Amino acid sequence: MIQDVKRGTWGSRTGFILAASGSAVGLGNIWGFPTQVGQGGGAAFVIVYLVCVFFVCFPILVAELALGRRTRSSPVGAFSSLSPGSSWWLVGALGVLTGAGILSFYCVIAGWTIAYIGFASTSSFANDPQSVGNFFQTFTNDGLTSMFLALLVLSITAGILLGGVRSGIERVTKALMPSLLLLLVVLAIRAFTLPGSGAGLAYYLRPDFAMLTSIDVFNAALGQAFFSLSLGMGTMITYGSYLRKTDGIASCAAWVVLIDTTIALLAGLIIFPAGFSIPGFDPGSSGPGLIFEVLPRLFATIPGGRLFGSAFFLLLTMAALTSTISLLEVPVSHLVDALQWTRRKAVGIVTFFVFALSIPSALGNGYIDLLTNVPGLNDNFLNLMATVWNNFALPIGGLLIAIFVGWIWTPRQALDELTAHNASFPLPGLWSILIRWICPAAILSIIIASLYGILL
Ligand code: TRP
Repeated sequence: MIQDVKRGTWGSRTGFILAASGSAVGLGNIWGFPTQVGQGGGAAFVIVYLVCVFFVCFPILVAELALGRRTRSSPVGAFSSLSPGSSWWLVGALGVLTGAGILSFYCVIAGWTIAYIGFASTSSFANDPQSVGNFFQTFTNDGLTSMFLALLVLSITAGILLGGVRSGIERVTKALMPSLLLLLVVLAIRAFTLPGSGAGLAYYLRPDFAMLTSIDVFNAALGQAFFSLSLGMGTMITYGSYLRKTDGIASCAAWVVLIDTTIALLAGLIIFPAGFSIPGFDPGSSGPGLIFEVLPRLFATIPGGRLFGSAFFLLLTMAALTSTISLLEVPVSHLVDALQWTRRKAVGIVTFFVFALSIPSALGNGYIDLLTNVPGLNDNFLNLMATVWNNFALPIGGLLIAIFVGWIWTPRQALDELTAHNASFPLPGLWSILIRWICPAAILSIIIASLYGILL
């Protein structure tokens, strides 16, 4: 797996796919996706999301992997080695900041997930399904607990990065993905059979295009697609740099997209049928609490629900940790490369900085009014962070990567890399058009239109 001294390569193509999907699959799929669908109005959002995944993100994923494998370096180095003396390295630097920014709210939610392993296994809420919503409110109101849990998540992540147990991650992910998939399928089947679930399925699968009136929906879908695929900040450049020349990039990228999208879609197949079986359920009103309010009620309807519930939150925590590792790795490896810091020093300093940045997200769920309802923005600090980093920083990073590969490095050179060793790369002409024209145009128009909406 990842070696620090001499740049190693993944042991196998499967090893790469596991590591990259370990990064991609996480809270973004199971917490973020249903939450965004709920706020974006259901099936119409899902369609916009899928269009973003296949026509914008997939080509950019291919571009990031190709950049990484060609230059064999971390994001900042990748840009400066292909375009020395230019300012393109700043795209890598933006990625370093974005990694820290995303991690700062991600660790708060991952902390809640850890707490729910315990809650689900005891009778804290299982006995009284109706009060689950209040339970979540009361729990997250207690900002100090959220803070402590966020620190726990960051410490575990830092420990894994320092402990040299990363080769173990590949093995963990190998067991994690099928278990998660299986559990999600079981839960979806249970959710389908609940009374009232039909309305949830209709909400999730039958698009009402009248919902697509606001550019915010497009922006949210685009941001969610980047976030879920770990794109736009150089994570996949780093992962590509460990890819062997003999492994076809197109098929590796296709696997990652397939696994990530399947798990997100499955999560929706659970949350909406189960949610709509609760009287008075409004998918848009729960915000970040959606899965924490709906799932415990679902577990309460299953024989052995405590076991299922705690197993579910345990798997989700593990999926989140394979993502936090990849988020922390980008700033850490950059500081090690650029400032010659030791790994220990870089991990320590970045973790401390991220923890400091996570405090307002942890305290903004009722503990401190100013952070719970940020003046003028009508939202809490955590959602604000998620919007800034996911909906703006990642797509802007992706836009710059597309422009760099499409116009500076050029698709011809990239295709050399993509078809090295006679790897098959279907539709090279289509990919070139997407990366040169479609991706930049789509991202740019969505970003400009949403900024215009915000500033107006
Ligand atoms: N993709 C992960 C998720 O869905 C989160 C994540 C990990 C990420 N690394 C990233 C998001 C890099 C953006 C960029 O949970």
